[in-house]
Amino acid sequence: MMNDDIAEILITEEQLQRRVRELAAEISIAYAGKEPLLVAVLKGGVVFMADLMRHLTIHHAIDFMATSSYGAATESSGVVRILKDLEEPIEGLDVLVVEDIIDSGNTLDYLRRLLLARNPASLRIVALLSKPSRRRVNVPIDWIGFEIPDRFVVGYGLDFAERYRNLPFIAVLKPEAYARGPAV
Ligand code: IMP
Ligand code: MG
Repeated sequence: MMNDDIAEILITEEQLQRRVRELAAEISIAYAGKEPLLVAVLKGGVVFMADLMRHLTIHHAIDFMATSSYGAATESSGVVRILKDLEEPIEGLDVLVVEDIIDSGNTLDYLRRLLLARNPASLRIVALLSKPSRRRVNVPIDWIGFEIPDRFVVGYGLDFAERYRNLPFIAVLKPEAYARGPAV
């Protein structure tokens, strides 16, 4: 059973939903009179964006990018690859990148530079989670949902070996669940 693998819930479903509504209200104000393009970073940012956009009161469009970093499953190596790019040019658009978590900062730093080079009217970032103690690259983040300690978390879009993205809360797994590794 999936729930037997959970050691601890760090952020409950209620806390997540309340914070997402707050962020959506702030973002709606920040983009008043504009029509931003929300770019979710696949796959982890999908659950967050799906909830966030339902609470936005402004018109907006959505698109997706997929990145991958070389290296072990729970560590970002600093080398980022683009696996899926945006469908349209973003020149002149107000772009809001929607990420699940900023850890070392490598992914968002790379994405930010890549998107800025395409001359959007503005580029802002919202990250649901941040692990400040892990930061290696300083990336300006406009909105952060929650700061969390240096622990590998799952749920609400975040995975371990592609599992647990569907959990409605943010949790830490039991050591056995991490040790077991990917399903075969
Ligand atoms: P960064 O490039 O080190 O900032 O890492 C960003 C990416 O690593 C995120 O988009 C996640 O996919 C993944 N990641 C970092 N920390 C965690 C975690 O605790 N659980 C699940 N995925 C994580
Ligand atoms: Mg991941």
